[in-house]
Amino acid sequence: MKITMSPSTMLNPVPVVMVSCAGQDASKEYMRPNIITVAWAGTVNSEPPMVSVSIRKSRHSHSLITQTQEFVINLVTEDLAKACDYCGVRSGANEDKFNEMNLHPIEAPGLKYAPQIQESPVSISCKLRDIVELGSHDMFLAEVVAVSVDDKYIDDKGKICLEHAKLITYSHGEYYGLGKLLGFFGYSVASKKALARRMPKKNSNKSKKSNK
Ligand SMILES: Cc1cc2nc3c(=O)[nH]c(=O)nc-3n(C[C@H](O)[C@H](O)[C@H](O)COP(=O)(O)O)c2cc1C
Repeated sequence: MKITMSPSTMLNPVPVVMVSCAGQDASKEYMRPNIITVAWAGTVNSEPPMVSVSIRKSRHSHSLITQTQEFVINLVTEDLAKACDYCGVRSGANEDKFNEMNLHPIEAPGLKYAPQIQESPVSISCKLRDIVELGSHDMFLAEVVAVSVDDKYIDDKGKICLEHAKLITYSHGEYYGLGKLLGFFGYSVASKKALARRMPKKNSNKSKKSNK
């Protein structure tokens, strides 16, 4: 039996990302870069590649992104989980979160103001297309103008090997590492040859033992 509950944001799991941004103050002075943790983020189009992040008006980052029309989505690893949480509970209006978390802002390709986070394995440079006011949150719809990937996750054939990056996800208020590989796109209809090539052998330890 399933119990019907009142409507809520129950979609799970979701990505959790660190969005970096920057801005200028009233006298056009360059303001320190900032990081906001965002769980309401998603891919919304392939060509051109587009993403969305939904941010409350009250966030310091909301005004920075509105000003500069740019932001960077930085993917989060297990090593960055604590910094990610911190950037989601402290405001850049009061402190320098890059400094506090010992993270480094570096130039993001394709953007003028928003930096990327050096320590993130994948940083996605985004230029704002539209702001959609939804209620509690404003959805920032943006086009991806560049993607920066740590070269330690690119193999000698140029393939991006994110399976080694230990990315995290967010489910019902908690952070999780990714579990074991269950399949790949189209594996339900893949040939035996493709399955043998792309899926790790099941129970390989057991079968080794039983051969002895
Ligand atoms: C896991 C997690 C997910 C969050 N997701 C969002 C989100 O999607 N949108 C949002 O406006 N705030 C979200 N927040 C809250 C902001 O990150 C938080 O208010 C932050 O302190 C804002 O920083 P700022 O004032 O420097 O912009 C989230 C916080 C956490 C911990």
